[in-house]
Amino acid sequence: MLLLLLLLFKGCLQCGASLDAPQVPGPPDPATEEVLSFRILHTSSFANSSWASSEASGWLDDLQTHGWDKVLGTISFLRPWSQGNFSSEDLKILKNLFLLYFHGFVIEVQAFAHQFQFEYPFELQVSAGCTEHAGKASGSFLNGAYQGSDFLSFQGNSWQPSPGAGSRAQKVCAVLNNYLDIKEIVQTLLSHTCPLFLAGILEAGKSELERQVKPEAWVSKGPSPGPGRLLLVCHVSGFHPKPVWVMWMRGEQEQRGTQRGDVLPHADETWYLRVTLDVAAREAAGLSCRVKHSSLGGQDIIIHWAQIGRPWRPLPPVLTPP
Ligand SMILES: *[C@@H]1O[C@H](CO)[C@@H](O)[C@H](O)[C@H]1NC(C)=O
Ligand SMILES: *[C@@H]1O[C@H](CO)[C@@H](O)[C@H](O)[C@H]1NC(C)=O
Repeated sequence: MLLLLLLLFKGCLQCGASLDAPQVPGPPDPATEEVLSFRILHTSSFANSSWASSEASGWLDDLQTHGWDKVLGTISFLRPWSQGNFSSEDLKILKNLFLLYFHGFVIEVQAFAHQFQFEYPFELQVSAGCTEHAGKASGSFLNGAYQGSDFLSFQGNSWQPSPGAGSRAQKVCAVLNNYLDIKEIVQTLLSHTCPLFLAGILEAGKSELERQVKPEAWVSKGPSPGPGRLLLVCHVSGFHPKPVWVMWMRGEQEQRGTQRGDVLPHADETWYLRVTLDVAAREAAGLSCRVKHSSLGGQDIIIHWAQIGRPWRPLPPVLTPP
């Protein structure tokens, strides 16, 4: 199996051999200045020594770009640009590599389960990928978990047990570190193939990923935090891309008590964010919610609390399908 893997892989070393071409940095753009990652998530559940099930998927940050069809043993490309600029030949080699990996992984784990004291039923998860920042490859990672807890990672060119994962993880890493060819493959996939692939899908998916959709914003009163106090809620909805800056202000003064929620997805692949401020009711007048977003071209949205006769907008934003 290993030999086959290697043979397949040597072919793939040409996958985008032009990585070294210098990249021209684009103009600064708030939408793309964040760190972007591509990762493959792989979960295998082992019910007993003869039954296991695996799932895998590919993600660009929060956006699923790839699936794995277990029946056909093929990669599903979920976006028109999910192939990036890899040739169908490159992708076929990768597909075969994954096919071998998923198959071999289950067989090897079952063979070593007893020696490593993995107790059925158990679940193993792998998250592996790479990041880029401002158009440049900025790192790669491979983390493994056993029963939902950090177990090991691939650092530099070797397997390292996670802190707190115990002697079992040390034993597994000691065994894995003997397989030099596998380490070489993993290292090349992480530090060479992945950054190329990421750059390719970011370029191919540019118009969708950098689509600019303006937010709508409104304010409302949240549940009272206590006597004489108000919870001011600023809702920002329907924007794309994800990075956004929202703050409760008094004039030009940022209000330090501003609490930011999680940026949540809408079904149409735009985003929603709720930002709150707990204030004494008599201090609410004069406060405003300020929103900065790349789609607004520098024209911040400012909503004054006091200006609103009825500080409540009951209708949700109208969501238009993409
Ligand atoms: C192993 O687990 C599967 C799935 O839970 C079950 O259907 C099967 O009967 C089990 N086999 C044995 C030998 O316990
Ligand atoms: C794929 O795109 C990346 C990033 O734009 C580029 O560096 C690389 O040369 C391209 N590869 C091919 C085979 O076109």
